[in-house]
Amino acid sequence: MLEAQPAQIAEDKFSIHNLVTREPRAGLAEDVRRGLATKPKRFLPKYFYDELGSQLFEAICLLPEYYLTRAENDILTRYADDIVAEVHGEITLIEMGSGSASKTRLIIEALLRKQPDLLFIPVDISASALDSSSRILLQSYPQLSIEAYAGDYFAGLAELEKTTRARTLALFLGSNISNFDPDEALKFLRALRQVLHAGDALLLGADLKKDRATLEAAYNDALGVTAAFNLNVLARINRELGGSFDLRGFQHHAFYNEELGRVEIYIESTRDQTVSIGQLEMEVQFGKGEQIHTENSYKYALSDIANLAAETGFRRASTWLDSDERFSSNLLLAV
Ligand code: AVJ
Repeated sequence: MLEAQPAQIAEDKFSIHNLVTREPRAGLAEDVRRGLATKPKRFLPKYFYDELGSQLFEAICLLPEYYLTRAENDILTRYADDIVAEVHGEITLIEMGSGSASKTRLIIEALLRKQPDLLFIPVDISASALDSSSRILLQSYPQLSIEAYAGDYFAGLAELEKTTRARTLALFLGSNISNFDPDEALKFLRALRQVLHAGDALLLGADLKKDRATLEAAYNDALGVTAAFNLNVLARINRELGGSFDLRGFQHHAFYNEELGRVEIYIESTRDQTVSIGQLEMEVQFGKGEQIHTENSYKYALSDIANLAAETGFRRASTWLDSDERFSSNLLLAV
């Protein structure tokens, strides 16, 4: 079989830095040990995104029920030129949680209509997603160079703080902010503000509060891709930590907690069972119906976003909505 040869990419156009996290006891093994020892049990959403998990998330973005990606794409397709016009000067583009970077293309193209070349600095937890998306972008845009960071958000921001840039536009798209509790969102935006100067900007994509039926359908798709994405964490523990999870003994559960303004996602044990995790030398008991909390997805009102901006050294300068008014793209200016 003939395989397409990837085009050679000049070394000075692409670098990828693997970041070790600042916390010495962090990492999958330690976080799983801790998460299974606490009551209620919990995992961190960043562990969804191994190679298979990242691809399952790409599949989620294609689901009819998961309107978020299409809505944001709509907004960026229509308004990318207006968005970048609000940031003045020769721009460096940062993206936190870039994933496949498919929506980023719309911003990159708008920027390249304004300036001759562009430095793009993506930060993502998945080194495989970073590597493949960077190569594809570099092949599409000869004016682009990429300096990528593989690591979690805070490790990436700590690294970015060591360097200075000209005018910066930072992207935090796809409602990636939704995984943060309110206090973590403040902490993250303050840390991001630290790497920016007054006049720099953050484009923040945030899913809006809306009716329960729409939200619950988006996290309980009929095809079961979200269930697979969620249960893949157990499969990952089996693969990487020698776990013995029987995936058939667990099910996906998601619902909208309206008081807290968030969709809550769990893995639920369908029977009493004991699971061993070889590399952790650990045995874990599950009762029938017992849950592992795997993710929160916070939903925002436009006033929540303005308040968040005001508390973190930004000002919400402009907001664009999709035609169904389900999703918001917010330009926050560093003050
Ligand atoms: C990537 C955090 C924005 O919360 O909608 C999608 C992740 N989880 N379906 C979201 C997710 C289940 C997604 N974010």
